[in-house]
Amino acid sequence: THWKHGGIVGVFGYGGGIVGRYSDMPDRFPGVAHFHTVRLNQPSSKFYSTEKLRAICDLWEKYGSGMTNMHGSTGDMVLLGTTTEHLEPLFYELTHDLKQDLGGSGSNLRTPSCCLGKARCEWSCYDTQAICHSLTMHYQDEIHRPAFPYKFKFKFSGCPNDCVASIARSALSVIGTWRDDIQINQAGVQGYIKGEYKSNGGAHADRDWGAFDIDKEVLALCPTQCMRMKGDELEINDAECTRCMHCINVMPRALKPGKDQGATLLVGAKAPILDGAQFATMIVPFIKVDQSDDFQVDH
Ligand code: HEM
Ligand code: HEM
Ligand code: SF4
Ligand code: SF4
Repeated sequence: THWKHGGIVGVFGYGGGIVGRYSDMPDRFPGVAHFHTVRLNQPSSKFYSTEKLRAICDLWEKYGSGMTNMHGSTGDMVLLGTTTEHLEPLFYELTHDLKQDLGGSGSNLRTPSCCLGKARCEWSCYDTQAICHSLTMHYQDEIHRPAFPYKFKFKFSGCPNDCVASIARSALSVIGTWRDDIQINQAGVQGYIKGEYKSNGGAHADRDWGAFDIDKEVLALCPTQCMRMKGDELEINDAECTRCMHCINVMPRALKPGKDQGATLLVGAKAPILDGAQFATMIVPFIKVDQSDDFQVDH
């Protein structure tokens, strides 16, 4: 079939969360005359219980096509294909029985998303889940009622590995970092050199790449060339380090982010059709992330 774009469709009181789609040939394809997309706000880091997932799938079998996209590039859980008549009953059961809400779409604040953060990852320099949840609650009006000329996105990564690709995918990108020195465990460094530990946590162990070579695999690949071996000691000139995470990723038992942790703020990533993807620009190199006043304290 040929699809018709757009058309305002939604639930009472909300201006976002549902993306209207119609077939241009409803007579020939009555089954997909309407095929609206419903976005559900995912929990921080996408932790669900199987019970909740089953309930959402059952609800979508009842009111929609049963097809899902887990998860959309927006971060949301995306339910593909329903009709206008089904939207209000779906929304009622979703919010009242499942205690789940719609996400963002159109020119509103899109559903904020975050990496696993401190829940699973030792590198997280701030609590990504807490800030994602807190800002989602704080900006409920902006998420559900489009008031902007264009969409706006927050994304939160706990460290510069940027697992949610916030630097490419969000209007305001919050990336964990540290402003003191990388923590070095010299015995750990020796463990890698002697082959006692697998580099990259064993991620490349499926093939024999030969013995680990710290010069080739770490020092030479440091983008600012700020590392060197002085005898058996690894030295890092932290003033030159750009926090790229390479050395930490290769030798996680030897190196860790510093202890004075916070975040870097960047703005303006976008993907215009003609120019291609553009990364965000750094505006605040370091800010402490303080949970005590719902993340609103200015440092
Ligand atoms: C062989 C078939 C298909 C392929 C290979 C495909 C591939 C993809 C890919 C790679 C994405 C981006 C995923 C992400 O990052 O979230 C995507 C998104 C999407 N697809 Fe498909 N797709 C297929 C069929 C369909 C069909 C049949 C529909 C609807 C009837 C559909 C609707 C969508 C929508 C609405 C999104 C955007 C979801 C969001 O908001 O992020 N796709 N698809
Ligand atoms: C010539 C064909 C199409 C073009 C050039 C096109 C282009 C686009 C663009 C530029 C966006 C906004 C992306 C962004 O900035 O996030 C978008 C969003 C989207 N498109 Fe299309 N599209 C086409 C066809 C379709 C069709 C046929 C469907 C479904 C049947 C579809 C479903 C969607 C959905 C679900 C979104 C997300 C809307 C939202 O985020 O609010 N598109 N499309
Ligand atoms: S972005 Fe960093 S902190 Fe978050 S999951 Fe990835 S590696 Fe861990
Ligand atoms: S984090 Fe990157 S820039 Fe910093 S010392 Fe390690 S490899 Fe070099």
